[in-house]
Amino acid sequence: MEAIRLREPCLVVLVGAAGSGKSTLAAGWFDDREILSSDRYREVASGDAADQGASDEAFRLLHRDLEARLAKSGSAIVDATNVQPFARRALLERAHAAGVPAIALVLDLPADVVLARNAARTDRVVPAAAVRRQLADLHRSLDGRGLPPEGFDEVYVIRTPEALDGLVLLRGSAPVSPRNPPR
Ligand code: CTP
Ligand code: MG
Repeated sequence: MEAIRLREPCLVVLVGAAGSGKSTLAAGWFDDREILSSDRYREVASGDAADQGASDEAFRLLHRDLEARLAKSGSAIVDATNVQPFARRALLERAHAAGVPAIALVLDLPADVVLARNAARTDRVVPAAAVRRQLADLHRSLDGRGLPPEGFDEVYVIRTPEALDGLVLLRGSAPVSPRNPPR
């Protein structure tokens, strides 16, 4: 079991391909109002959470709400793939501007696990080719010593389903139990 203590307020940036478990993790440890989900903003922007054509508007809204949340000294977790440096940079800049620590939680699970979980979903299956591209982007980020020099205060990389299931996030000074423990 790995326990990660988060300073509060903080910005947690999830990094991982579709199917790696980002939304499940966020829902287990954060309140709804703390979770900024790209899918939810796509739905707001276009009525369809899977509409990639709505991404520009979705991220404009997500960044706007992130700035507002950090300005109020609230913690936030960004539930988006964030596998490309420019996506992470946009979030880091806002954490730095607000003087809030930025923590990257990288879900680097084996490709076969991620692809199988994505394929087995009942809500929204992302094309396997897109998941493979996201995995390639993720591995490029990690191989090239990509994350630490980008400016995150802390980077945690979770590499196995067991480590993900055993992950404990300690919020602020008090130990807390997950509201919705991951299965
Ligand atoms: N899942 C699982 N065990 C976990 C986490 C997730 O079995 N510890 C399953 C979920 O139930 C879901 C699938 O894996 O069916 C993908 O998890 P999800 O959290 O939805 O992945 P995301 O990374 O949020 O995918 P996306 O980027 O497409 O939203
Ligand atoms: Mg998700």
